[in-house]
Amino acid sequence: MDTSAEALTAAKRAAGYVAADMVEDGMIIGLGTGSTVFYALERLSARISEGLRVSGIPTSFQTARRAQEYGIPLTTLDAYPVIDLALDGADQVDRHLRLIKGRGAALMREKCVAAAALRFAVVIDEQKMVPVLSGRVPVEVIPFAIRPVMTCLRGLGCIPSLRDGIKKDGPVITDNGNFIVDCEFGEIGNPEELEDLFAKIPGVVESGLFCGFTGKTTVIVGNQKKCRIITSADVIP
Ligand code: A5P
Repeated sequence: MDTSAEALTAAKRAAGYVAADMVEDGMIIGLGTGSTVFYALERLSARISEGLRVSGIPTSFQTARRAQEYGIPLTTLDAYPVIDLALDGADQVDRHLRLIKGRGAALMREKCVAAAALRFAVVIDEQKMVPVLSGRVPVEVIPFAIRPVMTCLRGLGCIPSLRDGIKKDGPVITDNGNFIVDCEFGEIGNPEELEDLFAKIPGVVESGLFCGFTGKTTVIVGNQKKCRIITSADVIP
């Protein structure tokens, strides 16, 4: 695997372009957040200038701004509670197409948009395919409950840390006005169970584990030469 910066950029761009080419005329699409999905936005912008008609629902302020720069018309989940296709990136993907997301702190809106979508296209580079999900799982928490939530998170067997801002003193504040706690785990043996346990903690708004969308997920693994496409039909139980 070529891990140079150039190869990584080419792989992300290739995956993003394949995902954007899945978009059909008239679709309402979810616009995820992050460096890989932004290549899908770039390609969509080109297709729009060639006549494609679409509207996108952004999952963050950053994506909304990027979409506006690219001339992608925006809409909302209020207008379209069910959408055709969500495009997004991920931090890790396992062989069952379960994901960890949230490096960019957009996990809550990303999960809402993925849940509203009939199909979910996830764009990654090869380094993000893993045999077992592990490591850092971001969790969005309301500031009011941060201390009891931290105690509960420790009880799940992780080391939680409040994410600090860069170019901002103090904690990251999400687009929803909340904190992000990064929960450091070893290997995650049962991601579905962990996602449910996070959801049961009062004050946890959402976690970066995405286990409930595998049946409608297509993962596009970027490569400079040819992208690999994995769907639920390819998953060996
Ligand atoms: C945003 O909060 C994240 O969920 C991103 O979608 C994820 O981290 C992938 O981002 P990159 O494509 O930049 O790696």
